Amino acid sequence: MEKSINLNNFKSNGFCYLNLFDKKEVDKISSSSKKIIKYFENKTGLADLNLEVADINHNYEEIDNDSKSILVDRRKSYYDNGMIDIFNPQKINSEISKDFIFFRNKIKNECIESLQKLYNKKFTLSATNIYRHQNTTRPRSAHYDNEEDYFKLFLYLSDVEQDDGAFFFYKSSHRQKAKKFLMNKINKYILKKPVLEDRNFIFSDKYKINLKGKVGTTVLTNVSGLHGCNPFKKNTDFERIVIVQRIEPV
Ligand SMILES: [Fe+2]
Repeated sequence: MEKSINLNNFKSNGFCYLNLFDKKEVDKISSSSKKIIKYFENKTGLADLNLEVADINHNYEEIDNDSKSILVDRRKSYYDNGMIDIFNPQKINSEISKDFIFFRNKIKNECIESLQKLYNKKFTLSATNIYRHQNTTRPRSAHYDNEEDYFKLFLYLSDVEQDDGAFFFYKSSHRQKAKKFLMNKINKYILKKPVLEDRNFIFSDKYKINLKGKVGTTVLTNVSGLHGCNPFKKNTDFERIVIVQRIEPV
């Protein structure tokens, strides 16, 4: 049976904190996330576990649609340096896959219907990702992923209690379509910025909300609004793990 969650102000603010997973559930998802990270680090038996490390020729769509769980190592990249990104951990050939399937099913059963009612539109789950950030000095700056409503739900598997290294969201920016359009066109055609380097000159920092929280915090965001991640300045060796579910229009 579908349950409904409280999405008060989500449509206008573009983000909201949810009460979705209890401590026991978070512990299981966290321990399995750490295990899959370890498997990738050890690099042995990856094929048997149905895991693969992406090479530079892989594109996002191929990675997402692959039958394996794939790691994209961005640690040496210019943007999102220090970050690893594991796509679709639920595809691992191990009993820990059940914890990731549980994560997806809970979101499917408890969020999708509420979102559909709110937007009067069909949505579905797409990729699940585990992000681990460490020493990230150049995270993605403020940007938006899509023109239309598209969601990412974050479950924190590490404490993010200071602005340092926190994800951020510009409140209500998803509704300011003219501003988004202008920001995009000026970055692309006048500033000639690469896609990953959008400059925010148009949305006021007054509306920038740093999405802090302890382990177990769940935040739903509309990534058609302006969002990004603050660099890790103070505690540079801090390891921050988060599991992310994309929810897209059908
Ligand atoms: Fe994004």
